[in-house]
Amino acid sequence: MKTISKAFALTALALSVAACSNIERSRNLANPRVSGSTLAQQVCASCHGGAVGQDNGTSINPSYPNLAGQQAVYLETELQEFHDHSRTDPAAKDMMWGLASQLTTAQMKQLAEFYAQQKPHPNLNQNDPALVASGQKIFSEGRAAQGVPACATCHGPSAEGNGPIPRLAGQHADYLYKQLMVFNTDAGRETHSEALERPHGVAMDAISHNLSDLEKHQVAAYLQSLR
Ligand code: HEC
Ligand code: HEC
Repeated sequence: MKTISKAFALTALALSVAACSNIERSRNLANPRVSGSTLAQQVCASCHGGAVGQDNGTSINPSYPNLAGQQAVYLETELQEFHDHSRTDPAAKDMMWGLASQLTTAQMKQLAEFYAQQKPHPNLNQNDPALVASGQKIFSEGRAAQGVPACATCHGPSAEGNGPIPRLAGQHADYLYKQLMVFNTDAGRETHSEALERPHGVAMDAISHNLSDLEKHQVAAYLQSLR
């Protein structure tokens, strides 16, 4: 009898250890007990960076935004928008809606805090210096004649962001340009009272609309070059 209960206790212990290590390496987005930092490293890493030999939140592929050092409030807002399907640009729908659908509020908060704490790295993709220099002027001075304020007034002098205003420094130029095009489209939707693809981006819509295509590329190139 004694040996049986000992064996039973050992089996129970082994099972609980297995369950514990599984939860720490779980990819199960539907399990509310899996922590945000586990999901970040087991699921989000495959696109946003953090697979073996990479740093968390620094992505190599320019279509996947860097998340390292991003503002926590902004990250949480975006995750909530993917979760409730209110950020509706095509890439958000295709890539983020499904992943975010089952996350709990607590997990989204943990994910936001996890990425905000990661150290951002200089972007390895770099652009033509002439493009970067023109972009710097737009960022710090704006284009008064076109009704474009300096980006620095909201995004901060080093594009580090602030609360709901995202960090842009070191972000992939491809991704930044793509988002400027989303805001550009939303500027047109506003005048027709249509639903916006990025509902928290109203401040950006006219700004983006008033920049030329070349200027959007210039400012995106400059932001990518920032450390
Ligand atoms: C299959 C690839 C893929 C995976 C896995 C993935 N993402 Fe994304 N994520 C994307 C893409 C692509 C975008 C850009 C969407 C767009 O252009 O609107 C994005 C955008 C985001 C953004 C918005 C960034 C910004 O600057 O606005 C956040 C936040 C985010 N993802 C968090 C996560 C988290 C947290 C996970 C894990 C639970 C995750 N992602 C997993 C591909 C992915
Ligand atoms: C009045 C304040 C304000 C000014 C000025 C401003 N922005 Fe923004 N910007 C925001 C806010 C707020 C957001 C977040 C929108 C959201 O949550 O969807 C944002 C978002 C963005 C994004 C999306 C980033 C991402 O990770 O998806 C880009 C790109 C951007 N801004 C570029 C610029 C550029 C370039 C300029 C200057 C030409 C500029 N902004 C000026 C407030 C501002």
